[in-house]
Amino acid sequence: MQHDIADSALAEQGRDRTEWAAQSMPVLGSIAERFARERPLEGMVVSGCLHVTTETANLMITLAAGGAKPALCASNPLSTQDDVAAHLTVDHGIPAFAVRGEDNDRYYSHIRSVLELDPTITLDDGADLVSTVHTEYRDLLPALRGSMEETTTGVIRLRAMEKDGALEVPVIAVNDANTKHMFDNRYGTGQSTIDGVIRATNTLIAGSVFVIAGYGWCGRGLAFRARGMGASVIVTEVDPLRALEAVMDGFRVAPMDEVASVGDIFVTVTGDLNVLVRRHFEAMKNGAVVANSGHFDVEIDKKALKEMASEVKKPRESVETHVMADGRRINLLGEGRLVNLSAAEGHPAAVMDMSFANQALCCEYLARSENRLPARVHRVPEEIDSEVARLKLESMGVSIDELTEEQKDYLSSWEMGT
Ligand SMILES: NC(=O)c1ccc[n+]([C@@H]2O[C@H](COP(=O)([O-])OP(=O)(O)OC[C@H]3O[C@@H](n4cnc5c(N)ncnc54)[C@H](O)[C@@H]3O)[C@@H](O)[C@H]2O)c1
Repeated sequence: MQHDIADSALAEQGRDRTEWAAQSMPVLGSIAERFARERPLEGMVVSGCLHVTTETANLMITLAAGGAKPALCASNPLSTQDDVAAHLTVDHGIPAFAVRGEDNDRYYSHIRSVLELDPTITLDDGADLVSTVHTEYRDLLPALRGSMEETTTGVIRLRAMEKDGALEVPVIAVNDANTKHMFDNRYGTGQSTIDGVIRATNTLIAGSVFVIAGYGWCGRGLAFRARGMGASVIVTEVDPLRALEAVMDGFRVAPMDEVASVGDIFVTVTGDLNVLVRRHFEAMKNGAVVANSGHFDVEIDKKALKEMASEVKKPRESVETHVMADGRRINLLGEGRLVNLSAAEGHPAAVMDMSFANQALCCEYLARSENRLPARVHRVPEEIDSEVARLKLESMGVSIDELTEEQKDYLSSWEMGT
């Protein structure tokens, strides 16, 4: 079995940590049990390009339980947990092609490796797999039942492909399921981004001025958590609606040009490029911490920061201290890549439980569909979204009220007014 991992001796450690995560993934676990009985994915080859974490390992194991042949490569060169890649490969015979810190060439060679297995379903986090299929592996297109997309940036790229008439495969936007972005992006990114900043720097959040670029699902989760830890939070936005929401949630909102000189910690989470650039670095205080939690490492102009520095030091594992000509130090975390995955472990398993339950159920949906879906970006079927919410509540021991017949009638009628 072909694979490319850092060290197979790490398998045992990967197994222990994957089992630990599984304890917080009861929804995925219940799907795995059903999959093992029903084998709905028999005959499916599922190639995934996802962050290689313990939670992803549990998704791969679930797909294998359903009869699929899964394989995994990384969706970011710095997010791979080498012990997890070893565990999947050695203990489950699920080939991983992922090595933490791999360079761009190796990253893309790994994408090619999972595509060379002739997948019938692909799982993407950022649309690198689907775009490579369209450019280099077009022969796979006819047999490809569809692909799932995990993140906001990927969905934006795929919608752009659809708009250009370039999308030739059906894609399900898992990110857009309510049980994904309302929880994973908000509570998952919110918590794990702070975790990344703290693990990288051991800085005190209380009393700091914490500037967050982007008040989307991720940004608002981060803003509430930073405030909860005692930071004074400032939000920057380009969308008036989102900015208004941030104001009414009680945050100060201002342009980055105005607040670059007052922030202690800056986190970009916009999915946009060049959000923090040279003129912002010129204004920043000595000791400013700069990090990104958006999908690609394009939000912070790392090149400009490097050019401005007279020296770059590495005082801690995930910190690059850029010493400016005037002596100020600006600390870039995790090379400007998703700080929650490069400097911490990514989202807690309990929230990935819902995201990956959507992934698993969408795989089943594609495998069971009699006809291939049209080649466009599809929503996650509503039944899947509400089933994930139902299962999650059940696993938490939370029950809710049910509509009475009278209430159902009332809510579906228009005759009754004041
Ligand atoms: N770190 C993670 O683990 C993780 C998890 C989920 C999503 N993501 C990524 O995080 C990014 C944001 O995701 P989201 O779901 O919050 O998206 P979103 O679309 O809900 O929010 C993005 C926000 O950024 C704003 N924005 C765009 N350009 C800006 C600029 N120049 N300055 C200030 N604000 C700007 C937009 O107006 C929008 O409100 C995406 O790249 C997504 O793929 C990362």
